[in-house]
Amino acid sequence: MSNNEPIPFLDLVTLHKELEPELLSTLKEVLQTAGFVGGPKVEEFERDFAKFCDASHCVGVASGTDAVRFALTAAGVKPGDVVVTVPHTFIATTEAISQAGARPDFVDVDEHTHCMDPRKLRDYLERDCSMDAKTGKLIHRKLQAPVTAVVPVHIYGQMADMDPILDLARKYNLTVIEDACQAHGAEYFSRATNSWRKAGSIGHAAAFSFYPGKNLGACGEAGAITTNNEAMARTMRMLRDHGQAQKYYHQMEGYNGRLDALQAGFLTIKLRYLAGWNRSRQEVAKRYDRSFAAVDGLRTPFCSDFAHSVYHLYVIRVRQRDALQKHLAKAGIGTGIHYPVPLHLQEAYRHLQYPSGSFPVCEQVASEILSLPMYPHLDVEQTQRVIREVAAFLSSRLSATVEQAQPVAL
Ligand SMILES: Cc1ncc(COP(=O)(O)O)c(C=O)c1O
Repeated sequence: MSNNEPIPFLDLVTLHKELEPELLSTLKEVLQTAGFVGGPKVEEFERDFAKFCDASHCVGVASGTDAVRFALTAAGVKPGDVVVTVPHTFIATTEAISQAGARPDFVDVDEHTHCMDPRKLRDYLERDCSMDAKTGKLIHRKLQAPVTAVVPVHIYGQMADMDPILDLARKYNLTVIEDACQAHGAEYFSRATNSWRKAGSIGHAAAFSFYPGKNLGACGEAGAITTNNEAMARTMRMLRDHGQAQKYYHQMEGYNGRLDALQAGFLTIKLRYLAGWNRSRQEVAKRYDRSFAAVDGLRTPFCSDFAHSVYHLYVIRVRQRDALQKHLAKAGIGTGIHYPVPLHLQEAYRHLQYPSGSFPVCEQVASEILSLPMYPHLDVEQTQRVIREVAAFLSSRLSATVEQAQPVAL
C-alpha cells in the first residue's frame, strides 16, 4: 500500500476478496439445495462454534441482540425483573434486557479493563438490594423488584473478571449471561478452576454477534448463543423459532430469530480462519503497544494478566481525543469512538433517572477513548503510519504546552 493511501478504520473488502471463491461455492450450494433456513448448514456451524468456544451447545440466531434477549428469557428472566449490566457498552445489551421485559440497571466499569468492576457489582448487591427470606429472591430495595441476572460485557475483545462475578452470582442466586458479542475466541484465566476458559464457556450462557465487522462476522446479520445447559439450549431453540420444537406445535410464543443457512455456511468457512485472524490482531496490538510505550500523553489498552484479548477494537485513551481524531482524519486515517455517550446518559434511558456523575469511571472513559484501525490485514507499514501520526500530534501538543508553560516557569 502506498504511503498516502487512506487507512480505513476497518477493511472488510480485502478479507472478502481472499475468501471469495470459498464463499461463492457455499452460495452455490445453498442455491442448489434452496435450504435457506435451518438445516445442515446451520447445524454444522452450531457444532463447530460450540467446539470453538468449549461449550456444549450453540444455538444460531438472527443477531447478537436476539442472542442476549433469548438467553435472558431462557434463563427465566421475567417482565419486571432487574438485570444488571454496565453503562459502557453498545445499546444492544440493554435493548435486549428491556425486550426480555426486564429493567436494565448499571454498575460502573473498571478503570483499567473498561469491563464490569466486580467490586461495584458487590457494592450494588450488598448496598442496594436485600434478600427476601420467604422467596429467596434478591430484591432491589428502591425499585422493589427482583434482581435476577447479570450481563458482564467482554468489551473490545477482553473478558470481564468472571471469577468474582460468578461468586457473587452464586451467592445471590443470579444468572450470568456473558455479552461476548465483541469477544470471539477471547480467554480468561479462572483462578477458581486454575485453567484458561474461553468466552462463551463460563457463564450460564453467552451471546455472540456476527455483525460483519466483528472478529467473526457474517455477510449480513447473524448471532449465536452458547451454553452448557441443555434445558436452556432447548428453550432458546424454541424461542428463535416461534416457540416450536415441532413444526406448528407451539409450546410458547417465540420470535422469528433464526440464523440463515447462507450466513451459517459463510460463518463455517470464516470460523476456520478465526484463530489466525485473532493472532494477527494480537500482533497489530503488540506493534501499537510497543511503539506507544515511548509516547507521552496516551494510555494503551490495559491487558490484565487473567485475560487474552482478541482486540476486536484497539482503544487508546487521550485527553485531547477530539482534536486527535480530527488530526488523524486529515491524515486519511479512520477512527471510531466506542462509545461516546454512556448508556445511562442516553435520551433512551432518561426514564432511569441517572444524572451525570452517576458512573464516573465510565463517563471519564467515554470522554477519552479513541479506537484506532484494527483488523487482521492491517500491515506493518499502515500500523507505523498510524503510530507516527498519533505520536506527531501528541508531541506537538506536548511542546505547545511546554512553550506556554515556560513564561510562568521563568
Ligand atoms: C457489546 C455488544 N452487545 C450486543 C451487540 C448486538 O449485536 P447485533 O448487532 O448482532 O445485534 C453488539 C453488536 O454490535 C455489541 O457490540
